[in-house]
Amino acid sequence: MTDLRTAVRDDYTQIFGHEPDGVWSSPGRVNLIGEHTDYNLGFVLPFAINRRTLAAVGVRDDRTIRVGSTFTDELVEVSLDDLTTEALSGWSAYPLGVVWALGQFGADLAAVPGVDILIDSNVPVGAGLSSSAAIEGAVSFALDEIWQLGLDRQTLARVGQRAENVAVGAPTGIMDQSASLLGERDAAVFLDCRSLESQIVPLGLEDAGLEILIINTGVMHDHATGGYAERRASCEEGARILGVEALRDVSVADLDRARELLDDVTFRRVRHIVTEDQRVLDTVRTLREEGPAATGGLLDASHVSMRDDFEISVPELDLAVETAQANGAIGARMTGGGFGGSALALVPADAMSRVLVALDGAFAEHGFGQPELFTVRASEGTRRES
Ligand code: GLA
Repeated sequence: MTDLRTAVRDDYTQIFGHEPDGVWSSPGRVNLIGEHTDYNLGFVLPFAINRRTLAAVGVRDDRTIRVGSTFTDELVEVSLDDLTTEALSGWSAYPLGVVWALGQFGADLAAVPGVDILIDSNVPVGAGLSSSAAIEGAVSFALDEIWQLGLDRQTLARVGQRAENVAVGAPTGIMDQSASLLGERDAAVFLDCRSLESQIVPLGLEDAGLEILIINTGVMHDHATGGYAERRASCEEGARILGVEALRDVSVADLDRARELLDDVTFRRVRHIVTEDQRVLDTVRTLREEGPAATGGLLDASHVSMRDDFEISVPELDLAVETAQANGAIGARMTGGGFGGSALALVPADAMSRVLVALDGAFAEHGFGQPELFTVRASEGTRRES
């Protein structure tokens, strides 16, 4: 972390020819449970991870914004006077989309000075760990401070979501940005996506001798196209037919009636959301009353629901989950939007090496590319580094 901090400062100074005013950072996230429930105004339980994106930012004396990153040579330049979302594309749509979205949430972009921004990160891209929310969190938090906007973290989460929805064109919910901005060490963020009220729920993994293993399948996903938007549309259709504002308003007890009103596919989409909301509530209660070792069954059930009802898993994710379960994990599920990305497994520390060996073997046997395997810890959300 210290290295990354020093490196981004040095690179900034070299690229822009002056020192940054500060370095801010925001983490990637893993969702413990509650998938696709956010845009249905239900519940999620993600946590921020110990992989972070850093933004070194310095004020300019004109109205220009320049943004660069250590993973591309491209330096994108735009004037605050003609920042429109139509003009944005590629990776810079995330940081520049945030600038635009701050304007949507009350920042007077006509009155602020330009800035230079350099981004560096150790959040893997395309792994389903919200590298995009990490960029949004770091940039929005930095600009909030530099431009003295006084926006709170929950509002900055909405800024990031707005950037993603409008500038990037991905119809995603509020979970990733909330996890990145609100995360705390060794704890998950229990978020009600309707009221946006959140509670910190300690995970207690260390005391229970458990670790969270991430299995990045390497299968790429893209929520700006295809399946994600289609699932969201099915959920909205289900809510419309059932006469509710959002699927949050349907309970497990309502499912028999829903089955009579909906076609089979829409019913299964609805059943995933409704049972997943319940599983989030059950997981929070279980963590508080019994500890993490008792949550395995809920994680497993969540995966089955995503695989069979919501149909967002892929063979590599199913293999990851089944192999982890069969070799000592106490629970496992795919995490994030689906169609690729990562699975998580809750693994007793003394079973970890067996799980790792089994995963390598199983992927090779099936002719799949080797997965990237690493453990993550629940970490602090967005912060100023220096
Ligand atoms: C992606 C989106 C989130 C959420 C998850 C699925 O990560 O960005 O808003 O919908 O998928 O739970």
